[in-house]
Amino acid sequence: MEFTTAANHGHVPVMRDRMGQLLAPAVERFGSNAVIVDGTLGAGGHTEHFLTVFPGASVIGVDRDPIALAQATERLAPFGDRFVPLQARFDDIAGPIGEGEGRVFDTVREHGVAGALYDLGVSSMQLDQEERGFAYKVDAPLDMRMDPTQGITAADILNTYSHGDIARILKTYGDERFAGKIASAVVKEREREPFARSGRLVELLYETIPAASRRTGGHPAKRTFQALRVEVNRELEAVENAVPVITELLGPGGRVVFMSYQSLEDKIIKTAFADLTTSKTPPGLPMDLPGTAAKFAPITNGAEKASKDEIELNPRATPVRVRGIEKLSDLRTDSPWQ
Ligand SMILES: C[S@@+](CC[C@H](N)C(=O)[O-])C[C@H]1O[C@@H](n2cnc3c(N)ncnc32)[C@H](O)[C@@H]1O
Repeated sequence: MEFTTAANHGHVPVMRDRMGQLLAPAVERFGSNAVIVDGTLGAGGHTEHFLTVFPGASVIGVDRDPIALAQATERLAPFGDRFVPLQARFDDIAGPIGEGEGRVFDTVREHGVAGALYDLGVSSMQLDQEERGFAYKVDAPLDMRMDPTQGITAADILNTYSHGDIARILKTYGDERFAGKIASAVVKEREREPFARSGRLVELLYETIPAASRRTGGHPAKRTFQALRVEVNRELEAVENAVPVITELLGPGGRVVFMSYQSLEDKIIKTAFADLTTSKTPPGLPMDLPGTAAKFAPITNGAEKASKDEIELNPRATPVRVRGIEKLSDLRTDSPWQ
């Protein structure tokens, strides 16, 4: 049973114990040299669990959101120098890890990463911070940037993208049936006055999406908000780029696990992992040709899902799909920084 505190917002991390189980063999293998990269630190729930159940391991906690990073760092202070925060995009960590100072960075440069976790998307903490504009249930500025110092906002997209681009984003990232209709309404409405707050967008969506489909399709703003968030934060691009970065940084026997909440994210991971775990020897030969054997092996059987019991307690776990791989340990052990 998890206690609700201001620091953890009362949100239990999705499949927390299972994530520990998936990384455990790698952490044991690395022993006192085990460094875990939590690529999506968020409120620090998974990291707190890792630091508790793996007393010999350290964690580098990565988040692009400086507010999340500061709050999680406070929560994890009791673990002392076993926790190191790193503000970065999770697909851009090789440089900062290569240059980082202190024991944990020295260890990871020498031995590689033992375990890595990517719990994708926004955190409950971000959804709770109303003024950031992630939630459609409250009127707030249309921002949605995970790193509020960089890049374009959701309002910029609505006010400047072409009709075609808005429709494409809503259809591709939100799976929105009425993407074209909504894009037309947005373009018409912004001529009257540019979009600034979410309330006006939600109102427009209520007017545009036919009442009949509202009864079956959930809240009419859900898909549009998801699509805008994915575009603002270039989420799919980050996931695609993260796989080659972290698989390079893993040490021999190291493991990486991705938790996806949208089918497009899961598809990217599935495809990338299938490629990494398959031999490049042409089919039909009795053994792998030199240099073509797979360098990784799957550690999950397809995609794992949350249990019924967990979903009942924490509906946020419903769409999660978990996939993991291990770097085979008979590979060369050169560090990518040499
Ligand atoms: C679902 S939450 C993680 C929750 C965390 N596992 C916990 O137990 O509290 C996802 C976090 O990842 C961060 N994030 C999402 N995309 C990112 C990226 N490309 N680079 C760095 N951080 C990212 C978000 O800012 C958010 O805080």
